[in-house]
Amino acid sequence: MTGMKLKAALLVILASIAPAAAWDGTSIHNCTWCHGTSGQGYTVAPRLAGQRPAYVESQIRSFRDHSRDNPFSRQYMWGAVAALGPRAASDLAAYFATIHPKPANDGNPALTAKGKTIYMDGIPEANIASCYACHGPNAEGVRDIPRLGGLSYFYLKSRLVQWGQGYHSGMGTPMPVVARSLGPDEIEALASYISFVR
Ligand code: HEC
Ligand code: HEC
Repeated sequence: MTGMKLKAALLVILASIAPAAAWDGTSIHNCTWCHGTSGQGYTVAPRLAGQRPAYVESQIRSFRDHSRDNPFSRQYMWGAVAALGPRAASDLAAYFATIHPKPANDGNPALTAKGKTIYMDGIPEANIASCYACHGPNAEGVRDIPRLGGLSYFYLKSRLVQWGQGYHSGMGTPMPVVARSLGPDEIEALASYISFVR
């Protein structure tokens, strides 16, 4: 689709969901002024475009119940979703899922080969799981397992480092254990590789 056609299609989608939705006073601009034009991500706020809607909804729930307690989550997201009801959350998630995600391409290109090997195969002798097994061959995610491909290097790295430090660990997901198995060099390589995946 061309940019214009896509924009027109999205406007139709927005127009069709807006009246049915309880927006709780929230418009898309309440999200995109941090998450960037078309939700492509901006500085510390990650890309939401193309993200799995079930994952976006689960994160909004965990910001609301404060179980996602990463420093920037506390600082920016607890307030941003405090008044967001489940209906508006699901409409926003559905909307972001329709936008084509652009890769950040901002990791260290020298580390991508190493990162790809760990992503695909894990490191069995170090008990490091393959990411592919859950996040898929192109890091596209499935259901509530997030798309990782093309997220920014900085964001990917801080998520993995912060799980290792114990943040966001009360949810019963596999990631705290997976992230704690990774050393700093593995995290560098994975975040670099994944930032280029489209
Ligand atoms: C003031 C800036 C700001 C605003 C406004 C904001 N966000 Fe965020 N958002 C962030 C930051 C920063 C993070 C990263 C948090 C972290 O590092 O743990 C984030 C993370 C998220 C995530 C997690 C993404 C992932 O990949 O795990 C979701 C989902 C999200 N925001 C949705 C929204 C929605 C929906 C809105 C509008 C209702 C919104 N945000 C408004 C700054 C903002
Ligand atoms: C057993 C399944 C499983 C494996 C293996 C796995 N993940 Fe995950 N990953 C998940 C789930 C589920 C989530 C969502 C957690 C949540 O709901 O907060 C996630 C979330 C993430 C996130 C957060 C993305 C965001 O938008 O904030 C990153 C980064 C991540 N995984 C990286 C990796 C890497 C790198 C590997 C390989 C070393 C890996 N994962 C292996 C299941 C897995």
